[in-house]
Amino acid sequence: MRYGTSGFRDHHSKIESISIKIGIAVAILSINESLQFGIMITASHNHFEDNGVKIMDDKGNMITLDNEKYIERIVNDTNITCDVDAIHHRCKIHIGYDSRMSSPKICELIVQGIQSIHTNFPFEIHEYVTTPQLHYIFSDKSQEMTYLKYIKRASKLINMNCILDCANGIGSKIMMLVGNPYIHLINTEWTEPTKLNMLCSSDYVCTHRVFPRLEGLQNMYVQDNLCASFDGDADRIVFYYRNSEGIRILNGDYIAALVFTYLSKQLSECVQEITIGFIYTGYTNNACLEYVKSLCFPRNVTVSFICTATGVKHLHKEAIKYDVGVYFEQNGHGNVLFRNILVDELHIIPQLFHPVIGDGVMDLFATLYILQELNWNVQDWSNIYTEYPSKLGKCSILDKDIFKSSDNELELIEPQYIQEYITYLCMESIDKCRAFVRASGTENVVRLYVESHDQDTTNLVHQEITQFIEDHINVIPHFINDGAFIVRPIRYTDATQSYYNLLGQLSHIDPNLMDYERTKTFIQNLGINSLHKHQIYVIEDINLGKIVASGTIFVEEKLIRNYGKVGHIEDIVVDSKYRGFGLGKLMIDHLTNLGTKFGCYKCILDCDDINVGFYEKCGYIRKGSQMGKYSIM
Ligand code: ACO
Repeated sequence: MRYGTSGFRDHHSKIESISIKIGIAVAILSINESLQFGIMITASHNHFEDNGVKIMDDKGNMITLDNEKYIERIVNDTNITCDVDAIHHRCKIHIGYDSRMSSPKICELIVQGIQSIHTNFPFEIHEYVTTPQLHYIFSDKSQEMTYLKYIKRASKLINMNCILDCANGIGSKIMMLVGNPYIHLINTEWTEPTKLNMLCSSDYVCTHRVFPRLEGLQNMYVQDNLCASFDGDADRIVFYYRNSEGIRILNGDYIAALVFTYLSKQLSECVQEITIGFIYTGYTNNACLEYVKSLCFPRNVTVSFICTATGVKHLHKEAIKYDVGVYFEQNGHGNVLFRNILVDELHIIPQLFHPVIGDGVMDLFATLYILQELNWNVQDWSNIYTEYPSKLGKCSILDKDIFKSSDNELELIEPQYIQEYITYLCMESIDKCRAFVRASGTENVVRLYVESHDQDTTNLVHQEITQFIEDHINVIPHFINDGAFIVRPIRYTDATQSYYNLLGQLSHIDPNLMDYERTKTFIQNLGINSLHKHQIYVIEDINLGKIVASGTIFVEEKLIRNYGKVGHIEDIVVDSKYRGFGLGKLMIDHLTNLGTKFGCYKCILDCDDINVGFYEKCGYIRKGSQMGKYSIM
C-alpha cells in the first residue's frame, strides 16, 4: 500500500490489515529519531466505510518524504525484525481518532504493533478528536493552553451569523463544546458514523454544487445567509450562500484573498520589514492571483507569490519561509502561519489561526473575524473578483508513470510532446488560456485543468487535450519478430537525418536542404489547426527508439455525400530492413481505422503496380485508374 498525500487511505478492512505494521513502523521511527510522533486515524471526506492513517512529527507537521518511504517499506515488508534494548525518554506516540466506526479497532491494532516493539513503549490515545486537535498537542501553544481554550478565545470575538454544516463528523463535537450563539450548527450527528459526510460536508457541496441536505429545514438557506461546511475531520472549510442563481461557493481561494485584503488594510502604515508569501497551486484561479497582486502594501512589506505542487504539505513547506505565510487550496484546506515576530498592526490575527496546520474551526473564526473587521457581508466578499471559467477532468491512461511534472506541476517534463501540444493550444487561444496535466498519485489517470476567460474556449481546449492524450498515450505495443513497435503521431523531435533517410526510400528528399525550424512548424501544425485533417503517423521500434515506418492520412471534407469525408492515404514507407514483418499492413490498418473514426466514408490511395498486391492484402481493391501530371519529375 502507498503512503499518499493523505497518508494510507482505503476501505477500513485494508487499513486494519496494515495497522499492526503501522504501529511497528512508527515505534521504530520514534526509537531511531528519539522523538515523539503522532498518528491520526481518519479518512476525512471519504465514505464512512473507509478509513486512513496519517502520521505527524514532533512539531505536528507532516513527516518527511524519507520517513514516509520508510514507513511504506515496513508496512509492505513481510519480515520485520527489530531489537530494542532501551527506549529514549523522548520517545512517545500519540494516537488520535475521529468518529469513524472502524477507528477504535484500528487504534487497538496500532497499539499492538507498538507494544510488539517494546511492552513499555509510551503511547497516549486521544479519542474522538479532529485532525487539527491532535496536531495542536505538538505545538508550543499547547504548553500555554488547551486546544479548547485556544479555539474558545477566538470564538469569543465572533458575532457574525453563519450556518455551519459539521458533516456529521467530529467537528460537531468540538463546535458544540464551543457553543457560539451566532454559529448555527447543522449535521451534527457525529455519534451516528453512517451519517458521516452523507449528503453534506465541504466536498459534497463543492463537487455537486448544492447545499447540504437538511431534512425539513432546507429553507434555512435564505438568500445571502452565510453558510459553511467542514469536511469529516474538520481540517478544512468552504463557505457559500444562496444567490439568485443558486449556490455561490467561496472556496480556499476566496479565504486567501480575504486574508490578503485584511493584511493590506492592517499593514498600510506599517514601517517594519515584513515578508509575506502567498503559496498557491495550479488550481488557484488566476482571478484570485490578479486580485491579490492588485492590493497595496507599503514598500517595506514584500509579497511573494509561489506556486507549489498540490497537497498541503508542499504549501506548508514554502509558507514557513515567510514572516506571514498564507496558503489555501481551493478545497478549503489551508492556514496562515506567523513567524515569531511582533507586528503590532497584525493585532490578534495570529491567534486566529491554528499554530501548525490548517484547521476548519480556526479558519471559520478567522474568516468571520476578518469579515466583521472589514464590515463586509458575504456579497462584499464574493464581489472582490470573478473567477475565470475553469474545467477539471480526468483521463484514464495505461501507465501514469510515464507522466513527469515540474515541481509546481504546471508543466509536463515528460512526455514532452504532450506539453508542447498544450503550450501550443494555449498560445493559439485568444482567451488567455492556461492548462496543465498531472498524473494522479495512486490511480492510472491524469487530471487536466483548463482555465480561460471564456467558458466555451475552456471546454474546447479541455476536450482537445483529452482527445490528444487518449489518442497518443493509450497505445499498446505490437510484438512483431522479436521487436516491440508502437504506432504514434510524429513529433518534431523525430525529424532527424534518419527519418529523412527513411522518406528517401519512398521518394526524393535531400536532407541537407531540410530546415529544422520549418519542419518543426510543419509537424506542430499537423492535426492541430487542421485537427483530424492532416496527420503523419510513424512506427517506432521502442527498444531502439528508432522510427522504422511512416504514413500519412489527409482527410478531405466534401460537399458531395452531404458534407462527406474522404481519407487520402499517402507516403507509406517501411525501412528496408524491417519489410516483410507486417509493419506496412499495421500502418495501413491504423490509418484506415483513423479515417473511419474521423467519419470518412472511404479511404483511397495511389500506388505503383508493384505495390498493388500489398494493398490488396490490406483489404484495398483496384478502383479506376491513377493519373498524374508532374511539373517537376
Ligand atoms: N506485392 C505483393 N504483396 C506484398 C508486397 C508487394 N509489393 N509487399 C508486401 N506484400 C505482402 C506481404 O507479403 C504480406 O503478405 P502476408 O500477409 O500474406 O504475409 C502483406 O503484403 C503485408 O506486408 P508487410 O510486411 O506489412 O509489408 P511491408 O512492411 O514490407 O511494407 C511497403 C510494404 C510499404 C510497400 C514497403 O515495401 C515499402 O516501404 N516499400 C517502399 C516504399 C513504397 O513503395 N511505398 C508505397 C508507396 S504508395 C503510397 O504511399 C500510398
